[in-house]
Amino acid sequence: MDKMSVMKSNPLRGEVAISGAKNSALPLIFATLLAKGKHQLKNVPQLNDIDSALSLMDSLGCQSQMKNNEVTIDIGEKLETLAHYDQVRKMRASILVLGPLLARFGVAQVSLPGGCAIGARPIGMHLDALKKMGAEIDVVSGYVVAKAKRLKGAVIDLPFATVGGTENIMMAASLADGITTINNAAREPEIVDLAHLLIKMGVVVEGAGSSTIKITGQNSLRAAEHEVIPDRIETGTLMVAAAITQGEVTLRKCDPTHLESFTQVLEEMGVKCCGEKNSIHIKSQYPLKTAGVVTEPYPGFPTDLQAQLMALMTQAQGRSTITEKVFENRFMHISELTRLGAQIEVHDKTATIKGGGKPLVGAPVMATDLRASACLILAGLVAEGETVVNRIYHLDRGYEKLENKLSLLGASIKRIKS
Ligand code: EPU
Repeated sequence: MDKMSVMKSNPLRGEVAISGAKNSALPLIFATLLAKGKHQLKNVPQLNDIDSALSLMDSLGCQSQMKNNEVTIDIGEKLETLAHYDQVRKMRASILVLGPLLARFGVAQVSLPGGCAIGARPIGMHLDALKKMGAEIDVVSGYVVAKAKRLKGAVIDLPFATVGGTENIMMAASLADGITTINNAAREPEIVDLAHLLIKMGVVVEGAGSSTIKITGQNSLRAAEHEVIPDRIETGTLMVAAAITQGEVTLRKCDPTHLESFTQVLEEMGVKCCGEKNSIHIKSQYPLKTAGVVTEPYPGFPTDLQAQLMALMTQAQGRSTITEKVFENRFMHISELTRLGAQIEVHDKTATIKGGGKPLVGAPVMATDLRASACLILAGLVAEGETVVNRIYHLDRGYEKLENKLSLLGASIKRIKS
């Protein structure tokens, strides 16, 4: 298994371009199942999760090809409707094939994804919604078995604004009979991106980006071409890299409007963030002030940037807090940050980070999930000496060439091949 060696680094300087969003590209890839023909997706990041998604598509009988950052997917008239455990266990987002397969073929069998390091992550809301749309659903031997002659439009009131749930319902509703209204829908930019692709495919989608989405189902859809939005989580991660090293960095090809709640917190801490149309400039100087954040669905503070912000908070003068409200177990990075000398206490869902004490000191640490890996690399940029981050395969699932981008900005970071 590869490791990452990170040395205490000079202030980062320069500019880099942001890649396409993993969490947009995945549902977009699965949405192509809704229509036969040749689909083309541009600005797709080269990541292990994307490889897993394309391998799942191929196992269903699709023909996918990735060249540089362009993906072509040829979808046939007939497809397999079984998503195997071996495919789904590699990546939870595979559950997003359920909605489109069921809507198009009237049947789908998808392995239950199970939990992961950040929580149990059930899919009850996906299934309840599909049942409300007329599907018969059983769970047999670890597989969701869903059937419906044709799904019917329905009013779905989500108990929580689930991102994947909203996406599965949107895709299922695209070929359903009549209008589906999703109340308390997720409002993430990735939802809006999915809506844009569905509209190009011929679906009528209204209200994406608000809490109520209305989808008018069609009898059939057409193949489409689409460009994936920039990755707001990669953008935020690199913003922290600039801030934690007291650097001055410009991030190109990003969308600052997708990061308003995050930018606001950095500004409160004393980091200057200047957003333009497709770029953001960050300038940071210590001392940093403390902050208190609570993670929430978009447009609230993103759970996917909580771990990275915690690394920065270890450098602020005083006590900062982070309350994690989206996932039940997303503080696994804390014990590793503590190994670097960070002073962090957790009570219930709130972590209190005491910054401004002794400097962090490099040590071997273990990445437990994707964003925890990023957090440890960021902490390594300010820790004295060398930090070696083990289990870096988590990082490769969701950051495109992060070490190259950080090196380009002057960070001392190197991959140690296994
Ligand atoms: N939940 C339920 N029941 C459901 C669905 C969700 O209880 O039927 C709970 C989950 O257990 C969790 C919360 O609701 O506690 C939020 O889950 P959500 O469905 O919104 O998340 P997701 O669709 O599984 C996506 C991202 C995650 C990101 C979350 C929240 C993708 C592929 N994944 O997951 O990204 O953290 O939304 O914003 O889009 C990451 O990139 O590191 C990552 C984990």
